[in-house]
Amino acid sequence: IPVDTFDLVLFGATGDLARRKILPSLYRRFVAGQMPEDARVIGAARSEMDDAAFRKLVAEALEEFVSKAKRDKDTIKAFLAQCSYIPIDAMGDGGWKELKASVRDDVVKAFYFSVAPSIFGPLAEKLRSFGIACENSRLVVEKPFGVDLETARKLNTDLAASFDETQIYRIDHFLGKETVQNLMAVRFANVLFEPLWNERYIDHVQITVAETVGVGGRGSYYDKSGAMRDMVQNHLMQLLCLTAMEPPSQFEPDRLRDEKLKVIRALDPVSPKDVVRGQYKAGENPSYVKDAENPDSRTESFIAMKIGISNWRWKHTPFYLRTGKRMTKRMSEIVIQFKETPHSIFERDEGSTANSLTIRLQPDEGIDLSVTIKEPGPGGMRLVNVPLDMSFADALGPDGQEIPDAYERLIMDVIRGNQTLFMRGDEVEAAWAWTDPIIGGWVERGDKPQAYAQGSSGPEEALMLMHRDGRRWRDLE
Ligand code: BG6
Repeated sequence: IPVDTFDLVLFGATGDLARRKILPSLYRRFVAGQMPEDARVIGAARSEMDDAAFRKLVAEALEEFVSKAKRDKDTIKAFLAQCSYIPIDAMGDGGWKELKASVRDDVVKAFYFSVAPSIFGPLAEKLRSFGIACENSRLVVEKPFGVDLETARKLNTDLAASFDETQIYRIDHFLGKETVQNLMAVRFANVLFEPLWNERYIDHVQITVAETVGVGGRGSYYDKSGAMRDMVQNHLMQLLCLTAMEPPSQFEPDRLRDEKLKVIRALDPVSPKDVVRGQYKAGENPSYVKDAENPDSRTESFIAMKIGISNWRWKHTPFYLRTGKRMTKRMSEIVIQFKETPHSIFERDEGSTANSLTIRLQPDEGIDLSVTIKEPGPGGMRLVNVPLDMSFADALGPDGQEIPDAYERLIMDVIRGNQTLFMRGDEVEAAWAWTDPIIGGWVERGDKPQAYAQGSSGPEEALMLMHRDGRRWRDLE
């Protein structure tokens, strides 16, 4: 179903994210028939360029980042006809009058800031002072949304000077991932899980986002962030919140975000003994410090932590989080590990018979519930743990309908005016308020990350974080 027609002004249109994600996602929605024929994508950036040069850049991005099956010449040509470009000087006055003349007032106007956060404020101010933004405009901003509580507050204040909170869409692209939304469907559209979703039945939750890539190419950004700011404060925090939150009364933006906020506010401060930081050594690829071009770097490319939530639902159920670069496998999942049965009437073999629910974000998105059954055959009452596996690719049918990229969903939500999958200002601030003392502690203590081998599961100490509690991480193999 096509969305209402729109003018989307993409600031930072020549940048990496625009090329890799935003423009290809718009194109895929165009192919799917969701982008109206008179919708327009207006690229804006500092480079002097005309429409033809911008279209060439877009075409190259599509060639590189869209699968061949979706790229036919005529479709690309039709999409490019809807793209244009205006050179804009974010800090000066160049290009703003042209932009004002070019956007339409009677359609949805979305301004997408795919730029450094330092120019969020100036751009928002220009949009207002040149009379380009209006009450119906929407503003999309990308992470990093600040580097700590103070900078996040400043960004919120700067944006609030020109836009109302109901117009601001802070992207956390993990919220657009199909399985993440499915986590909510599984929890709140089935009667099966909710009665068990608490400390009485859940032993612990583990959330892993493991990547095989390093930080080469973006070392200067990453070295100032580390895994904590780059991944935990936003993506992993969102996964934790959706897993831990109370059922919202409606699937409605503020009801959902209120519940997530309550979780962040209930997080315990994290003690240093519950955090393991790592940094990848040289291996098949250069070391972290080489990638970051900082031989003395103490930034973590891996982090594992144990987090407590002080509320009735979760008081004695720890959440273990880990994420890292250059690990053995690209794999993201949330595992809800249920407790053992209170009493077993069967003779137990080695190993656990406890149920677990795994929400796989990637690869092979899906959900699987492990249940214990009798091993088939005449060998007596032998128990075996088997997965009731629902892979989305299989469930969606033999044609293997492609699961849309998170950005496709999120950009269309902006046009529809649906903020449900976007972070509210107070949520981001609360996440920083929890993160800041942890990072502050490292700086104070001169904390050094542990070295780990490329292609591993991170430092040994991360395994110990769970072993000492009599638990273990899921294998990454
Ligand atoms: C980004 C981080 O927000 O998310 C990157 O800055 C990370 O460091 C990326 O690689 C992971 O996203 P995805 O969608 O590839 O899992």
